[in-house]
Amino acid sequence: MGTGGTITGVGRYLKERNPDIVVVGADPEGSLYSGDQPRPYLTEGIGEDFWPETFDPSVVDRYVRVSDRDAFRTARAVTRLEGILVGGSCGSAVHAALEVAREFDESTTIVVLLPDTGRNYLSKLYSESWMLQYGLLDRPDVVRVEEVLASKGVDLPALVTVRAHDKVRQAVDLLQEHSISQAPVVREDGTEVSAFVGSIRERELLDRIFRDPDALQADVAEVMAPPIPMVEFDDPVEAAFAEFEQQSAVLVTKAGQVLGVLTRSDLLDFLAHRRRTSS
Ligand SMILES: Cc1ncc(COP(=O)(O)O)c(C=O)c1O
Repeated sequence: MGTGGTITGVGRYLKERNPDIVVVGADPEGSLYSGDQPRPYLTEGIGEDFWPETFDPSVVDRYVRVSDRDAFRTARAVTRLEGILVGGSCGSAVHAALEVAREFDESTTIVVLLPDTGRNYLSKLYSESWMLQYGLLDRPDVVRVEEVLASKGVDLPALVTVRAHDKVRQAVDLLQEHSISQAPVVREDGTEVSAFVGSIRERELLDRIFRDPDALQADVAEVMAPPIPMVEFDDPVEAAFAEFEQQSAVLVTKAGQVLGVLTRSDLLDFLAHRRRTSS
């Protein structure tokens, strides 16, 4: 009920035909019609803070008061489940109908009027961020870097490092041994963040050794690339994803220590195999 015109006209006509019909009005929280204290709400087109002359309250047998949250979530459900793109007042009407329907058995006929298309609300109730901003949707669970690291197979140590003073040949052997294409370079053995001084990558090593086979005898320090970027264990996985635009791996740190390496393919593997929980 907005102006009340629809419910008054339709309700009167139906009652003329069948006086046993029950007319139910869906009303937002914060509207005068169902006796609430008038206050602002987000559902558009329905509810009032005064009684308009277009509304004949004697036609309405009962009211169901519906929150913005229930109205919008129901509208989204109608769109998702029925393929009918509806607005917030329709969500409110369907929510009210479902509530009333629980009191009756399957022999009861229930008709719901859906007044509005959802096209007018694409940047409102059909926008995930708008819904989150108003607290109308529960925040999706944040996946942290730590969880992706923990999901890695156990066939590889979490961290394979090369020492800066190892020879390039040793570094090549190490990459081969573990079937990896890159590794962080440490000043000395250890996992403190400050020990991580560079990185080696198969592609650049090949390039270097192909042009200059003597490079195999050089120290890793002479041929290494800048360090692999670091993300914190409790960062959202988006932090690693952002690095993967430029880099193929990140180091995961916790309390000043490096816990392990996360690669693009680790993240891909995680995304492909985690259990789907979203509705
Ligand atoms: C989106 C929407 N829903 C519901 C209504 C309610 O209809 P009525 O004004 O006939 O009560 C309106 C009225 O303008 C509306 O705009």
